[in-house]
Amino acid sequence: MAFDEKKFNEILDEFKVDDERLREIAASFRQDLILGLKDPEQSSMRMLKSYVGLPTGKETGEFLALDFGGTNVRVSKIKLAGAGRFEVLKRTGKPLIVPGEYDYICKDSTAEQMFDFIAGLIEEAVDGDRETTFYLGHTFSFPSEQTDLYNAKLIIWTKEFATPGVEGKVVNDLLKEALERRGMKNVKPVAVINDTVAVLLSAAYQHDETYIGSIYATGHNTCYIEPSVHDEKCVGRGGMILNLESGGFMKLAPNKYDSEYDKHSEKVGEQRLEKMVSGRYMGELFSMTLAELLNETGKHYGFTSVDMSGIIGDGIDDLSKAKAIVKEKTGHELDDSDLEKVRRLASAIVIRSARLVAACFIGIIWQRAGKEKVKPQHIAVDGSVYEKMPLAKENIEKALLTVFEEDATGIRTILDNGGSGLGAAIAAAMAVN
Ligand code: BGC
Repeated sequence: MAFDEKKFNEILDEFKVDDERLREIAASFRQDLILGLKDPEQSSMRMLKSYVGLPTGKETGEFLALDFGGTNVRVSKIKLAGAGRFEVLKRTGKPLIVPGEYDYICKDSTAEQMFDFIAGLIEEAVDGDRETTFYLGHTFSFPSEQTDLYNAKLIIWTKEFATPGVEGKVVNDLLKEALERRGMKNVKPVAVINDTVAVLLSAAYQHDETYIGSIYATGHNTCYIEPSVHDEKCVGRGGMILNLESGGFMKLAPNKYDSEYDKHSEKVGEQRLEKMVSGRYMGELFSMTLAELLNETGKHYGFTSVDMSGIIGDGIDDLSKAKAIVKEKTGHELDDSDLEKVRRLASAIVIRSARLVAACFIGIIWQRAGKEKVKPQHIAVDGSVYEKMPLAKENIEKALLTVFEEDATGIRTILDNGGSGLGAAIAAAMAVN
């Protein structure tokens, strides 16, 4: 079949963010940030306090790090050696869902089952040791309201998690209870942080001039260190890190696919930016647009962002991989001209995503600089989309260059792989030292 050219171009247009729009979105993001600094109620972002500032880099000791933020839960034992050095002594991990075997993130599971499973992983990480005291830092990557570094209440599940009995609860209490049920009172949760905060802590532990931390993966969110926020319960230097929950930013216009997807999602009306940019959703948007081109509107093909990355490929002309993926998911065997369009479609969705993520970074950089010249700095990013999705990183950088021009050479996004675990260990060290 040959795709309808007009329809194809209309779809591409829906995903276009030109330079002017990029600047407008960045400005509107900054405006929302300013509103939130005065009163979080006024912002579309939650702007959550983390009760932690930047580390000194001198934090030392052995800590457990629990990284709970997506379908894979990981527990590590990490030795911080100071001067930005560390060693991972042990690492374990398991998914919270294995289709056909178990599923701890669905409506039919319970908070106890979920946290008992996690306590089991912690038991593995300490080799069943029930004597030694272990301080644990917990990276919990969902919007949580904190009153200090230990105490974080889950406000709302995101990323399509649906386990009942966790929303509204202090997650470290649920974890502690599960550890107690397992006879592991020797493991003491002392800090809970968002994964963006973990990435920022981890990058700042190792590099100077890092003020922004972001996750660009299944979910999306950004945090930054805000010098004007202080609290006596906050540990660390430079002010307080604010977890923006920028995935909730909604002062930007969704297109018809975004709106349609949102209507059928777990949390309608929530996480509007996240649903436009993150790995959990890009495949769904791609499915919807392709269904339109294939005259099968409404059909769910189940494309994932990994499929999209295979379809976009490395830019060379060979379309055989794209052909196989499209055939497997849709049943259609497309010719090269249509496959080329499929690739452009997937690319357009990724490029929009990267430019929207960049707009958030630009808004924060403008805000931090105020009237001063923008400083050279690192933006620490972790996540599979940033790391592996073709076109993602390069389009973030292109957008930074468009806006900051020659200053952009001093602004670098850096991959902070594994930062969620390391950051949790650093937060634990900051809590007990
Ligand atoms: C959550 C954030 C988290 C992000 C990345 C979002 O769905 O709301 O708290 O930082 O995913 O994991």
